Amino acid sequence: MMSPRALLPCLQGLLLLLGSFAQACPPPCQCYDGTKVFCSGEEIWGIPEGLPGNATQLFFVETSLTAVGSGAFGNCSSLARLVFLNNPGLALEAGAFGERSSLAELEVSGSNLSALSSAAFGSLLELRNLFLTFSALRALEPGLFNRTPSLEALHLQGNQIETLPPTVFSPLRELRVLDLSHNPLAPVPDRLFDPLALLQVLKLSNISLTRLPLGIFRPLRSLKELSLDRNALADLPPGAFSGLSRLQRLELQHNALTSLRSCIFSCLSNLDVLNLEGNRLSALPAGLLRGTPKLGQLFAASNRLETIPEGIFSNLLQLQTIVLSHNQLTHLPAGAFRDLFNLTTLQLDHNNLTTLAGDTFHNLLSLEVLGLAGNRLQALPEGIFDSNDYLFGVALKDNPWVCDCRLASLAGWIRNWSAPLNSQTFCTSPDHLKGWALPALPQEQLVCLAAPGPADSSLSPGEAETARAPCTYNDPEGTVQLACDTAACHRLTVHLPPQGDSTGRGLAYNRNWVLNSSCGMVRVWVTIRAEPGGTAREEEAGSHNPCSEP
Ligand SMILES: *[C@@H]1O[C@H](CO)[C@@H](O)[C@H](O)[C@H]1NC(C)=O
Ligand SMILES: *[C@@H]1O[C@H](CO)[C@@H](O)[C@H](O)[C@H]1NC(C)=O
Ligand SMILES: *[C@@H]1O[C@H](CO)[C@@H](O)[C@H](O)[C@H]1NC(C)=O
Ligand SMILES: *[C@@H]1O[C@H](CO)[C@@H](O)[C@H](O)[C@H]1NC(C)=O
Ligand SMILES: *[C@@H]1O[C@H](CO)[C@@H](O)[C@H](O)[C@H]1NC(C)=O
Ligand SMILES: *[C@@H]1O[C@H](CO)[C@@H](O)[C@H](O)[C@H]1NC(C)=O
Ligand SMILES: *[C@@H]1O[C@H](CO)[C@@H](O)[C@H](O)[C@H]1NC(C)=O
Ligand SMILES: *[C@@H]1O[C@H](CO)[C@@H](O)[C@H](O)[C@H]1NC(C)=O
Repeated sequence: MMSPRALLPCLQGLLLLLGSFAQACPPPCQCYDGTKVFCSGEEIWGIPEGLPGNATQLFFVETSLTAVGSGAFGNCSSLARLVFLNNPGLALEAGAFGERSSLAELEVSGSNLSALSSAAFGSLLELRNLFLTFSALRALEPGLFNRTPSLEALHLQGNQIETLPPTVFSPLRELRVLDLSHNPLAPVPDRLFDPLALLQVLKLSNISLTRLPLGIFRPLRSLKELSLDRNALADLPPGAFSGLSRLQRLELQHNALTSLRSCIFSCLSNLDVLNLEGNRLSALPAGLLRGTPKLGQLFAASNRLETIPEGIFSNLLQLQTIVLSHNQLTHLPAGAFRDLFNLTTLQLDHNNLTTLAGDTFHNLLSLEVLGLAGNRLQALPEGIFDSNDYLFGVALKDNPWVCDCRLASLAGWIRNWSAPLNSQTFCTSPDHLKGWALPALPQEQLVCLAAPGPADSSLSPGEAETARAPCTYNDPEGTVQLACDTAACHRLTVHLPPQGDSTGRGLAYNRNWVLNSSCGMVRVWVTIRAEPGGTAREEEAGSHNPCSEP
């Protein structure tokens, strides 16, 4: 939440820009254009006398103001905007604003104000915006808004309001925005919102809600935005959102939801943004999004999802963002994201995915950002991003990548298109590539360990000899010969000298070979120990064949 203090520097900067010549102005205030008056400083204990009579905007910021009594602004007959920011001792007495019909906006933020008399506002018939925020209000008196019938925006966030009189909002027939967030408010009276037929934005974040009264939102036929995040909702009653056909944004993040009814969102035919992040959902019903064809953004990170139902997104052709990070997804159903042509962002990071089908991202023609970090992927199918022409941000780190031939195409793709995001994406195996970053891997290192192929009996000895010729290697001492078979590249033959050794000390051999053949380059490590008189034992022979099809 934005603290009023954070606004202060912006405000001062703005006023300084507005005009630098101060007119006759009661010190220590500063006046701009004769209409904007800015008073700040701990030495201000009361409303200064001699404020310009034609002031339209009045700011009191970080002063020692205490009581603002009746008639305090008596000479300012065209006051339109009155702002009190961070005046800790401020109290508003009855009639502080008189019958000021010109006042359109009143803001009191960051004060110690704990109570407001129902007469505090007098009769502010033209007041449209009222901010009473981040103060210490404990309650609202019934009738507080009886003489402010033009209010369009009422901001009460960040107070200590625990209860609301059930009819307190009844006079506010013009209200478009109501923010009650960050108050220890629950429970909310059942009919509290009934009079607010024009309301478009309702913010009820962090008000200790544990349940939604049945039908509480039903009268809000104009509602476009509903925030219920950071409460303790464990369940949404059937029909909780029925009637909200204009709703575009629904925030349910950081509650305690364990499951959702299949038709809970079915009336939300205009829903664009749905946030379910940070709940305890272990599954989503297959038909959950069937009634929300205009959904553009779905946030469902930090739940307990193990998979998603087949076809859950199938009618959502306008989806642009899907966030499923920090769940426990072990697999995705076939065609999970089929035909989501408009999808630009898909976050699947920090799940338990071990494999992905080669067509997982097919037809995601707009995809730009894909998060796969923090899964259990060892490899991805070749060509998995072939239809994603706009993809540039693929995050792959924290997966147990096996850097062999199966990763060759992915590594090439990453190097070309998404290297910066993957400077911390490391190989987990094989051992000698552990810790290499994928974009930095030399392509020729991505080879598969030779699988022992069948003896090649189809070649005559002569042919075999020729075939072998391009890559036969002898060490200078002539003790060991390595030969690779160009017709079957995966085969590597090691010829050891005849058994036994004249010195009787046994054969020890340790050497690095670089083999260059028509198959490509390959580096081979051979370590051999042979006991005198015993059988030769090959302790370690690592080889990496450049041919991707063993
Ligand atoms: C406001 O009043 C002052 C004199 O009191 C005058 O100089 C100024 O022009 C007035 N400004 C407007 C916008 O009427
Ligand atoms: C209002 O104006 C009168 C006459 O100019 C002045 O005496 C009085 O102090 C002013 N009151 C305030 C609250 O500024
Ligand atoms: C805020 O109000 C409380 C009681 O309402 C009072 O004890 C405290 O001194 C006030 N703080 C300031 C800074 O005025
Ligand atoms: C929730 O509201 C309380 C006041 O009721 C406030 O102290 C707290 O910081 C708020 N929490 C969040 C996460 O905004
Ligand atoms: C996912 O991985 C986490 C952490 O390794 C593990 O605790 C959890 O049981 C796994 N969940 C599933 C469904 O496999
Ligand atoms: C979604 O895609 C369709 C067709 O591919 C296109 O007509 C439409 O404008 C797109 N919508 C958005 C919001 O990008
Ligand atoms: C990477 O870029 C190089 C040179 O531009 C190109 O030859 C190669 O095909 C690209 N590889 C991939 C996987 O895009
Ligand atoms: C490997 O062989 C190719 C031709 O077969 C040659 O162009 C290349 O320079 C050789 N590389 C090394 C390191 O010997």
